[in-house]
Amino acid sequence: MSELDQLAAQIRACQRCRLAQTRGQAVPGEGPENAPILLIGEGPGAQEDRQGRPFVGRSGALLEKLLASIGLSRGDVFIANVVKCRPPENRDPLPDEIAACQPYLDRQVELLRPRLILTLGRISMARYFPGQSITRIHGQIRWVDDVGYVPMFHPAAALRNPQWMAAMRADFAQLAPLVAELYPGRSGEPLASAPDDAQQMSLF
Ligand code: URA
Repeated sequence: MSELDQLAAQIRACQRCRLAQTRGQAVPGEGPENAPILLIGEGPGAQEDRQGRPFVGRSGALLEKLLASIGLSRGDVFIANVVKCRPPENRDPLPDEIAACQPYLDRQVELLRPRLILTLGRISMARYFPGQSITRIHGQIRWVDDVGYVPMFHPAAALRNPQWMAAMRADFAQLAPLVAELYPGRSGEPLASAPDDAQQMSLF
C-alpha cells in the first residue's frame, strides 16, 4: 500500500474532531499519485459523504466541465478537501475542525509534491492566502518555490451566483498554457490554444 493509501485509511478511521460523529464516511481525496495539479475544495457535501469521493455532486459536475475546458479530466488531477468529513447541514467547517484536519492535507501535499495548487473557494484560499478576498485575487497565480498557487472560485459559488461563472471559466482558461507544460505531449485544446513559442515563457 502506498503512503497516500495508508494516509487515506487513517483518514477514514479518524476521530480527531466532532465531524466524525455526524459523517457518513470520510472523504480522503483521490487522484493519481504523480498528479502535477492538486485541487483543494472545502469539505464533502451530502453526495460526497455518501460515496466517500470528492466532488461527485453538482459542484463536481461543473468542476469536470471546467477541467475539460482546459483539456483535463478528473483522473488527471488529485482532488482533496480542507476538511475530510462533511460538516452538518453543509455549514462552514469551524476553525478547530480545520486545524484538526490540517495534518492530513499537509501530508497529502508533501507526498504529492504538486506543481500547481488550485484552491477552490474561500475556506481553501484562506490557508494559502490568509486575509485576502477571493473576489479581488481570484485567478492570480502566486509562485512559491516553483509551486504555483491559484485561488479559484468554488464551483458551488458559481452555481449560486451565475455572474461569477464567466470569471471562473476565464480563470480556468488562462491556465491552459501552464497545463500544456505540465502535461506535455497531450494533444487538444490546451496545446492548440497556448501562446506561440515566442510569447511563451517557460514557467518551470
Ligand atoms: N464541495 C467541496 O468543497 N468539496 C467536495 O468534495 C464537494 C463539494
